[in-house]
Amino acid sequence: MRITVVRGDITEQQVDAVVNAANSSLLGGGGVDGAIHRRGGPAILEECRRLRAGHLGGGLPVGEAVATTAGDLPARWVIHTVGPVHTDGQDNIGPLASCFRESLRVADELGARTVAFPAISTGVYRYPLEEAACVSLWTLARTPTSVEEVRLVLFDQKAYDTFDRAREALDPSDAQVEAWLRSLPDATWLELFDAADALTDEDRDVARPVYPDRVRRLYRSLPGASVDWMKWMRGNPLVSDPSLLAGAPVADAARLATVYVRGERFNDGVFGRAVQDGSVDAIVRRLRVWVGQGGC
Ligand code: APR
Repeated sequence: MRITVVRGDITEQQVDAVVNAANSSLLGGGGVDGAIHRRGGPAILEECRRLRAGHLGGGLPVGEAVATTAGDLPARWVIHTVGPVHTDGQDNIGPLASCFRESLRVADELGARTVAFPAISTGVYRYPLEEAACVSLWTLARTPTSVEEVRLVLFDQKAYDTFDRAREALDPSDAQVEAWLRSLPDATWLELFDAADALTDEDRDVARPVYPDRVRRLYRSLPGASVDWMKWMRGNPLVSDPSLLAGAPVADAARLATVYVRGERFNDGVFGRAVQDGSVDAIVRRLRVWVGQGGC
């Protein structure tokens, strides 16, 4: 799937489906929602009202998506999704990532091959642009779909520049990171998996600044890739949910390992907490699967 970042008005996009940054009522609003209903005409709202009279009586939940006609828009469908209102101290990344994942799922059900997304939640819902851009791009790049082109349509230059920079955070490419992993000697993998297997429950329970030898050995054996880990990790769903690694390219395991290996140098305890919360286990599991499949 190709991901393009353009500056423009989402209502003018010549695509199969346009994603609307809706609210749970599905009855319209301002911003993207207002523009889509204004330009698309009453047919969209009529279909939204039928959804509300039917299985969406309670409204569309945050992170979910549903399709209607696109009315007079150049597109065939509108996929309405409800982003999270950015709230400090809550999980904002998960629901925002879900908007992109669920919109692609609906697009696949429709048979849409080209889909335009706005910067969901970054307007009225106050989601910081930089983090939203990372969540959006990482999720789009990692969601299996039959959609051939996803077009992120940014309304102003600041949003465009932010999303374009965030796309660089996916560099170096998966292929480049995987080629580096493949270049590592077999001894690296033997040492890593042996160190991981040697960890005791007690090692896992306590993330302390003075790590037991077995934790230090595991720390030393994790492959940390040469990636811009601080940019990549900002808003990356993997940091809050490492179980997503199971479905991600092995390059993400190396990137996430880098976050903890390098992060420990800046802040004692980062690695210990990653051992404690299972993130390091998820990384080792993903690497073990890749090595077991003859990756290296
Ligand atoms: N095309 C592309 N992007 C647009 C357009 C447009 N025509 N109009 C606005 N935007 C941009 C905004 O600049 C912002 O970056 O879309 C992003 C999302 O902003 P909102 O539309 O405010 O959406 P969101 O932050 O998700 O808030 C949703 O706002 O409009 C109401 O009914 C909507 O209650 C819901 C809430």
